[in-house]
Amino acid sequence: MSKTAVQFRHNGNDVAVFVDGGTNLLTTLRDSIGDTAPKYGCGQGTCGVCTVLIDGEPHLSCLTLAETCQGLAVETANGLKNGPALHPLQVAFMEQFAAQCGFCTPGMLMAAKALIDRNPSPTREQVVEAISGNICRCTGYEPIINAVLAAAAARGARRA
Ligand code: FES
Ligand code: FES
Repeated sequence: MSKTAVQFRHNGNDVAVFVDGGTNLLTTLRDSIGDTAPKYGCGQGTCGVCTVLIDGEPHLSCLTLAETCQGLAVETANGLKNGPALHPLQVAFMEQFAAQCGFCTPGMLMAAKALIDRNPSPTREQVVEAISGNICRCTGYEPIINAVLAAAAARGARRA
């Protein structure tokens, strides 16, 4: 089968891969680039564990063809840290006990990042809506919602 060359930014670095037609972004990230932060859950767009940001917007990487990412910026949870410093969302998830098994966490973090990047002071309802496509089997969601609100507040405090 012929392969297609795709180039995009991955967590700030330029990458180039050859993909088979129909290969999704999730498989490309995990198997070709070695970024296993986005998880494979349902594979059909219903669980959210594969959520990544493409040009700052949340997308389900299991439903995104890798070829469509040509020239775009793809962010995953592996790109959240700044050197040794955790992202405020990662700190808040730790402090609020928002991760138990952790399987949903990379997708939750990216959905939350998309929200607080465009809306630095979200309401509780806006947080609930932003993560509504991401299923968590462990936490009951309250610690996650609290963590997103805490991260937004912490970022706001740092900017003030
Ligand atoms: S693996 Fe993509 S939505 Fe479930
Ligand atoms: S922490 Fe286990 S699924 Fe969310």
